[in-house]
Amino acid sequence: MIRLSFTVLLKACLGLDDNSGADAASPINNAAKTHLEAFFNMISRNPDIRRGGRKSLVSFHASHQGIQSVMESLVKYRRDHPSSKKDLLSSMLSSQDAHMLSNEEIESNLFLFMFAGHETTANTLVYMIYLLAVFPEWQTWVVQEIDQIFSDVPLDNKMPYKDIFNRLTRLKAVMHETLRLYGPVGNLLRRTSPDHDQTISRIDGSEILIPANTLVNIITTALHTHPDYWGPEALSWKPDRWLSSDELDSEKVDHLFAWAEGPRACPGRKFSQLGTLAVLVTLLHQSSVHIVPKPGVSLEEAQSEALEVLQNSRSLLTLHIEQPQKIHVRWCPRI
Ligand code: HEM
Repeated sequence: MIRLSFTVLLKACLGLDDNSGADAASPINNAAKTHLEAFFNMISRNPDIRRGGRKSLVSFHASHQGIQSVMESLVKYRRDHPSSKKDLLSSMLSSQDAHMLSNEEIESNLFLFMFAGHETTANTLVYMIYLLAVFPEWQTWVVQEIDQIFSDVPLDNKMPYKDIFNRLTRLKAVMHETLRLYGPVGNLLRRTSPDHDQTISRIDGSEILIPANTLVNIITTALHTHPDYWGPEALSWKPDRWLSSDELDSEKVDHLFAWAEGPRACPGRKFSQLGTLAVLVTLLHQSSVHIVPKPGVSLEEAQSEALEVLQNSRSLLTLHIEQPQKIHVRWCPRI
């Protein structure tokens, strides 16, 4: 999934894919691809790098410097040779006058978008797939919707995404429920204005005063599992809690902080939603996913063991399954 989400971001941010062809920019493009992939792989395989030894910090630093230099060449090349590509880099280069971004700002933003986007989306997909395998009844529920939609429209590249996206109510519920319990970002750090106190409104209308220049740690995991908001079964994965009369309940959606809120909320929210749903529709339209029990273990036992492995996740750079090798799934073609 990491590979898939990296490939999508590479195309969206830098306009690079396997069909990019050979031209004068190929050496720079290829170097950018190689350096970024190596860096992200290093972080994903060793998310605890901050506690790593001197050796891992040295290779982290060297890899980071490599990216800096290759991104510098790439942005400079694209500024000198304007391209018709519809990617994030072109949008940033086309900003004018007061909004014009320096090369350095563009390089940092490109890196930030790819860094912030690749693991978050990949991990969300992984949790969704494992949970659908653990709970086959919810998989059947969501597949019913997909089959219903695609009995009217053929599944191909030309379909207008909005028609499909708006109708994927159950799959969105599965995504929201997964992000509620297994969101990649479990806490958000914010600081109040240095000059004045600020207030937070509580759900009952009362207000909490927070003094100026206070560091506030918002634990989204706690907000997402509080029984006052989510009921007695707050810790259970129940996708239909997001629906009211077969529609997504917008009030509930407002209580999800998975993409944060406010001026520093995730700018990749819609992008990640689209990517996640597109991958799952493509997979589930053709195949179903199942937990594979070890010899001598019943399916029910294997499903609850897999759920335990998922619950035993740890927040590093993003949320990680501690022992993913303990979960075995099989994709089977749907007849
Ligand atoms: C399911 C997928 C995703 C989730 C749950 C998610 C969640 C978040 C959260 C919670 C933040 C705020 C972090 C903080 O303030 O500490 C954030 C920031 C950010 N995200 Fe995402 N994200 C996702 C996917 C993406 C994607 C695909 C992109 C890029 C295309 C992206 C780009 C960014 C950027 C650039 C920021 C920094 C914004 C800023 O500091 O102003 N994210 N994301």
